[in-house]
Amino acid sequence: MPNLAIQPLAHKDFLTLAQLTRAEMEMLFDTAASFKADPSAWKDVLRNKVIVLLFEKSSLRTRITFEVGTAQMGGTAIFMDHQKVKLGERESLRDYGKNLECWTHGIVARTYKHRSLTLLAQETSIPVINGLTDFLHPCQALADYFTLREARGSLEGARICYVGDGNNTCHSLIFGAAKLGIQITVVAPEGFEPSSRVVNEAMEIARETGAKIRITDDLEAVKGHDAVYTDTWVSMGQEAEAEERLAIFSEYQVDDEMMEQAGKDAYFMHCLPAHRGAEVTPEVIDSGRSLVYRQAQNRLFAQNAILIHTVAARG
Ligand code: CP
Ligand code: NVA
Repeated sequence: MPNLAIQPLAHKDFLTLAQLTRAEMEMLFDTAASFKADPSAWKDVLRNKVIVLLFEKSSLRTRITFEVGTAQMGGTAIFMDHQKVKLGERESLRDYGKNLECWTHGIVARTYKHRSLTLLAQETSIPVINGLTDFLHPCQALADYFTLREARGSLEGARICYVGDGNNTCHSLIFGAAKLGIQITVVAPEGFEPSSRVVNEAMEIARETGAKIRITDDLEAVKGHDAVYTDTWVSMGQEAEAEERLAIFSEYQVDDEMMEQAGKDAYFMHCLPAHRGAEVTPEVIDSGRSLVYRQAQNRLFAQNAILIHTVAARG
């Protein structure tokens, strides 16, 4: 482990990128890069620490990367499946948090309601990390900007275009771009734009950081970006709306033509799981432009950095 004392994030928890400063985001990127370059240097940083994972929804990447990351740093991860019994149902979130803080040192939670996550964070003294809610997906967006930084060499002047549903992933990408002072264009059909609460807060942040944020339903706006990002049109919990959504979003599929329009060197990004033939064609996601597996790989390093600057930094 590097000799320097580990700096904690100003907030106990990692709930949203809107809570971070740009300097904190840069610190997380630097730690992620340092971990990626030499994992063995961090092998004891979570020794004797226990991280509990509370998941109300399915997961591959988030679960595995937090479990692997905790093990790489000498800690123990415990997975609690809350798909059947949702958080707060068997006992109150306060009792849950107060119990967990007796035995464990950090919580990663994936919940439907964002409020379940914030309540849990409020009621416990240990760090709570957002592993996705209906509203936000900040671990994903942090790893995505880390990936874009790596691919471009820097985030200076980066322009990202998100096409599709203005969902949790989109919200966190907007907050990330606002904090980093870069450009984000969201192209979403009418009625499926990102939440105005997110957009207004991000615009406020952008006033200070110089970020450029544009929300439109015009597909022409894809022109002139370094990366085109999309996500599923049917997020977890929206299965009943699948048919209606697939019809509404069909024009917003990312295909070769859209990628060419974005820019001849534009990258393709997706948080996964992907639906080839729906939000993206196989030709795009499986092409040399695609960063999707690098994004997945970097979830591990970005989240290790989060654990380091929350749980490990608290000693
Ligand atoms: N991208 C992402 O969060 O994947 P999982 O749902 O598999 O964790
Ligand atoms: N928007 C998707 C992201 C999955 C990682 C969902 O919430 O299902």
